[in-house]
Amino acid sequence: MAASTFHVTTFGCQMNQHDSERIDGLLESLGYAQADSASEADLIVLNTCSIRESADRRLETQLGNAKRFKAARPGVVVAVGGCWAQSLKDEVFERYPFVDVAFGPGQVDQLGQFLLSDSVRAQGYFEFGGFTGELPMRSKQSASAWMQISVGCNQKCSYCIVPSTRGLELSRPFADLVAEAESLVARGAREITLLGQNVNSYGRDLRPERRSFSELLAAIDAVDGVDRLRYTSPHPQDMRADVIDAHVELDSVCEHIHLPLQSGSSKILKAMRRTYDRDRYLSRVAMIRGAIPDVSLTTDIIVGFPGETEADFQQTLALVEDAQFDAAYTFIYSPRRGTEAALLTDGLVSAEEASERIGRLIELVQRVATARAQRFVGRPVEVLVEGQSRTDPERLRGRSRHNKAVNFSGVAVAGELVEVEIESATSTSLSGQATLVASALR
Ligand code: 5AD
Ligand code: SF4
Repeated sequence: MAASTFHVTTFGCQMNQHDSERIDGLLESLGYAQADSASEADLIVLNTCSIRESADRRLETQLGNAKRFKAARPGVVVAVGGCWAQSLKDEVFERYPFVDVAFGPGQVDQLGQFLLSDSVRAQGYFEFGGFTGELPMRSKQSASAWMQISVGCNQKCSYCIVPSTRGLELSRPFADLVAEAESLVARGAREITLLGQNVNSYGRDLRPERRSFSELLAAIDAVDGVDRLRYTSPHPQDMRADVIDAHVELDSVCEHIHLPLQSGSSKILKAMRRTYDRDRYLSRVAMIRGAIPDVSLTTDIIVGFPGETEADFQQTLALVEDAQFDAAYTFIYSPRRGTEAALLTDGLVSAEEASERIGRLIELVQRVATARAQRFVGRPVEVLVEGQSRTDPERLRGRSRHNKAVNFSGVAVAGELVEVEIESATSTSLSGQATLVASALR
């Protein structure tokens, strides 16, 4: 195949961003160079998501563009990977005949096989072929790195397409992950985010020796040079004392926990098959706050799930007040092909009602988050520098251990840890002045 430059467009979650970085690494290892835009690339890769209908719609536009680029330059190869491709499988080729190769999230390595083969016939790969995390790392690394610790999910949340696109849960071998952390640090990483659909059930499937997620946290924390350790997403059901203790006992494990709630109504949680109720969720929050009083707690919430009444929604609002979230990602329920909830016909919430509810929810989330963020004002916080501020080129931006975006004045370069005195705070970001630079911090 003659293609020699590539461009990857990524949709969806952090796992997809991780997978796209490995697609970059794989293609670089095959001799391809990054193109600045899809319009110039010989190989156009779309790494897709199917979590909500809105993701599908954004993809339609990109597919339309790829079709045009290919019509203008017939040698262009179009590759479509990820969850949307997996959920449609060979139908991708029927619906979009200009696609040359399609693969699911567990078959990224097959993209390499396809490019090396002589055949340009449309090919699809949808059987699990290996962990994307085992593919080559890309040359461009930053101070923050992802690490894929498992694939798939054994939960059966009734609204979610992921178990059908990413399959059953498989954990990567413990020793491989420790070795990968060492190699990430050697390439300049100092913050590692462990990724999985359900990170805290990591290791139960490993043989001969079962492992636990808290053991993994301890082993990565022990790697020299890991200053910050994060993970996403845990399931409230598996958020046990050992994981919470890791935040207290291990220096690198950050004071931030993303604990997806989905709904504050026990009735809706049951219909969602979340395996916990409102009280159990709140007791986990109490346990977390008891151990880590200053923790930042963030969450995901869905509104408009079938059967959700105004009274159920009020329970969600009340829980947001009770739990005092530092941030929440809010979504309108979107029926997904092949999921249990897509078959529900009773108590459907109209689009108008759902959007009215999400408006009220966002307003409350912002109010609570703004109030919570005030605790940082007047405090020095440690910031990992990412680069120039997006709004003001004179200033810098980075992230605190609590996972707040921080804009600040001072002199520092990307990858440094600096101390910033916080002067003001909004629901989404902090602002201040740098006082100390990295080397002085550690
Ligand atoms: N509709 C709306 N939101 C969804 N999520 C997952 N599936 C759906 C769906 N069908 C949300 C959940 C999850 C986050 C990643 O996306 O809140 O935690
Ligand atoms: Fe990620 Fe889920 Fe989207 Fe797949 S469907 S890319 S797992 S958010």
